[in-house]
Amino acid sequence: MLIMLLASCHKKAVPVITERKAGAPKKFESIYPPKETVLPDTAAGKQLFTDRCGRCHGLPETNQFTAEKWDNILPVMIPRARMNNEEALHVRAYVLANTKN
Ligand code: HEC
Repeated sequence: MLIMLLASCHKKAVPVITERKAGAPKKFESIYPPKETVLPDTAAGKQLFTDRCGRCHGLPETNQFTAEKWDNILPVMIPRARMNNEEALHVRAYVLANTKN
């Protein structure tokens, strides 16, 4: 397990996942705080994204993917970046405010 973690942290270009089933995974809800308990803060989100999302691979461009695609990617990546659910909400707000349409 440790070896897998280390291996996954080598810097590499952002791989393109061409197929990830539409529809968010079950854990989608649980990585974000309950609705209306935290106000999304895109500035904080940008900071977190910039600091934490380029560690294992190049920092992705927010406009690389559509909002729908991001909502499939973020629930996988946010736990990898070890963000709490408030940080997750901010990052999502920032990313979705800057996606390709
Ligand atoms: C612990 C290492 C790690 C961290 C931290 C991390 N990622 Fe990733 N990321 C990966 C790996 C490994 C892949 C390769 C694809 C996979 O395993 O799903 C990847 C792939 C991606 C991709 C390619 C598209 C896709 O569907 O996989 C995007 C976009 C991405 N990450 C965004 C992010 C964002 C945004 C964050 C911050 C919230 C983040 N990553 C933090 C390891 C990480």
